Amino acid sequence: MKIIRISSILIFTLCLFLSCNKKEGAKPLITDINNNPNWTQKFPGVWETSVNTPSEVNLLSAVEAKPRAEVLKTFSEESFPVEKSEIKVYTKNGKTHIRFPLDDKEQIYGLGLNFKTVHQRGRIMKLHMDHYTGRDEGRTHAPTPFFASSKGYGVLINSAKYIDVYVGTGVTKDSKNPAESRDRNTSKNWNPRPKSDNLELIVPDNGVEIVMFSGKDVQETVQRFNLYCGGGFVPPKWGLGFWQRTPTLYDEHAVQEEVDGFTKNNFPLDVVGLEPGWHSKSYPCTFEWDKTRFPNPDAFVNKMTNQGIRLNSWINPFVSPSASIFESIKPYTGTHTVWTGIVPDFTMPEAIKIMSDHFQKEVISKGVSGLKIDEVDGYDVWLWPDSAQFPSGLDGEMMRSIYGSLVQKWSTDMYRKINQRTYGLVRASNVGSVSYPYVIYNDYYRHQDFITALINSSFTGTLWTPEVRSSGSPEDWIRRMQSVCFSPMAMLNAWADGTKPWSYPEVYKYCQDVAFLRMQLLPYIYSTFSEYYLKGIPPFRAMAMEEGFSFNEVVEDGELSSTNNPYKEAVKKEIKDQYMMGESILVAPMFADQKTRTVVLPKGKWFDFYTGAYVGDGEIITASHGLDKIPLYVKDGAIIPMMKQIKNTSEWTPQTDLEVRVYGSKSHEFVLYDDDGESFDYEKGEYTQKVLSTSIVSGKLNGTIKDLKDGKSWSYRNLRWNFMSK
Ligand code: GAL
Repeated sequence: MKIIRISSILIFTLCLFLSCNKKEGAKPLITDINNNPNWTQKFPGVWETSVNTPSEVNLLSAVEAKPRAEVLKTFSEESFPVEKSEIKVYTKNGKTHIRFPLDDKEQIYGLGLNFKTVHQRGRIMKLHMDHYTGRDEGRTHAPTPFFASSKGYGVLINSAKYIDVYVGTGVTKDSKNPAESRDRNTSKNWNPRPKSDNLELIVPDNGVEIVMFSGKDVQETVQRFNLYCGGGFVPPKWGLGFWQRTPTLYDEHAVQEEVDGFTKNNFPLDVVGLEPGWHSKSYPCTFEWDKTRFPNPDAFVNKMTNQGIRLNSWINPFVSPSASIFESIKPYTGTHTVWTGIVPDFTMPEAIKIMSDHFQKEVISKGVSGLKIDEVDGYDVWLWPDSAQFPSGLDGEMMRSIYGSLVQKWSTDMYRKINQRTYGLVRASNVGSVSYPYVIYNDYYRHQDFITALINSSFTGTLWTPEVRSSGSPEDWIRRMQSVCFSPMAMLNAWADGTKPWSYPEVYKYCQDVAFLRMQLLPYIYSTFSEYYLKGIPPFRAMAMEEGFSFNEVVEDGELSSTNNPYKEAVKKEIKDQYMMGESILVAPMFADQKTRTVVLPKGKWFDFYTGAYVGDGEIITASHGLDKIPLYVKDGAIIPMMKQIKNTSEWTPQTDLEVRVYGSKSHEFVLYDDDGESFDYEKGEYTQKVLSTSIVSGKLNGTIKDLKDGKSWSYRNLRWNFMSK
């Protein structure tokens, strides 16, 4: 009995001891980790998973983006590109956390239209639709939640919420590849940012859809992403000519004088942009012609069309109380106004119908070829707040993320109805808009950053124009003109300043030269765009997508100072000022203050575009082109189809002589594409392809052309091979 009592006392004391030692509150840090989300393979190299119950509306569903299944199926089978158990997913307090492993040398691209950086590793961002703020912090015109890894995979987080991303900044305590611990007291190599082994995202939602893409390289990963989100598109031929946007209050006479000025000064022109003054009221807009400036819009548009000039009309979609549709659309608009205009809910068929009927009457039936859809990105101070509600049930946050995509879909569908391609401008876009024929632009104007944005657009499924407005000097003017002529939309946006290509007479000759060079290159550029549609390859793309390109980031020691920076942050240098236009041309723009610049050539032989001379192989060269030229380099074997100098794409007729330039000594093939240039019939397979190929015959390169796909349209005759590298 006694023994039993003593042992019970002992057990009780032990339990008491143990329970006192159990730390209160030390709960498991993360419960519910879904270490193995169920990935379903959808296409070769494409897998989807759905965590918990995602919101019904997401970036892709908002615009009914459908994968281009017939093309995706032609890609090769791949194994899942990341160790599945290393992808951690859990939901806590209404937020879904996703973590991907990162290797020490892995680089990350994408995560929105950034303007200052191409390498995203080391950044912290909140992806949020906005006018670019001047810092790569996630607020931008295309805050696309997609990243591509240098290891050959990419991930799309298909959510219309504002997403937090920590790209290789966090360090987990259970890391399999931990950072070395150093003592700052004694070690010079103490690092304020010990290496991180992961990329983490936080989606403020109870669930989310994730899509994984693999690729043999960054480009193939991006191709799969683009095709999964709907593929690319081929713009109308006129869209690739030169664009001039006229000052806001120009009337029909001033516009005609502008067009005459282009003829007189011998400068290419295809499109004239009308800015807010074409509306009877703007900010908010009526979408009805101002009868004092344009008394007879039908006759005006007709007159322009007869001169080969297309019109593009500026709008923002905020409906003025003076608009004839104000009362009818009111029930289908959000709780908040923008500049006193009501905001149509473009997810609702009723709103779409009212806007479409109105635009059909005022814009499309008149013959206007496209729109510039402004201010759909927002500035927090004037856009609807996140608390806004829309009649479809969407809140302000989700609507802001998808609004740019919705207006692209709405407007493209109107042109699709009349089987006429359009090409326009939009200030907000997102995942899901890759098949819509729009180019992003903004009010920010740093030339260098415009080029970095052009590079990054290739990771976001969007296009970007480094538009020219005005300049502090002739040098700045010509350097900007050169860049814009090597972009998806060669546009001078003179809405505020009334500048013309000849505004800086000192460099006018060089402006003409580069604009005509673009026109000459249209057969190459148009074929490049066909690859965007047929294969999802971005027409203007980052060097990271180019085979043989490697540039190890240069990391320099940062400054240590007690007042500014006690952490001695490293300074990284990366390549963010050169890019590829199509498969063969490397563009290295120069900026106003530069007399020389360096260019990093990928491995393989490279040649000067203008002379055909050999310039280097996988090395860093110095370009010292004067103001008369933009540095352009061409790959060994490149085949570049060009035509005569034309002023308007209506001259790109079935009788155009073709000059095919060949660079270097390697045999190669180029698929020259053509179609009617205007309708959507190319999507039904109505296009022509011929293969231009070179091979070595008796020690010399020889060129031949053969049919690949028959179609009705073919614009060329009298092919002349021009072997540039003698
Ligand atoms: C800005 C736009 C400019 C110009 C202007 C007209 O928002 O970015 O390109 O269109 O509006 O008011």
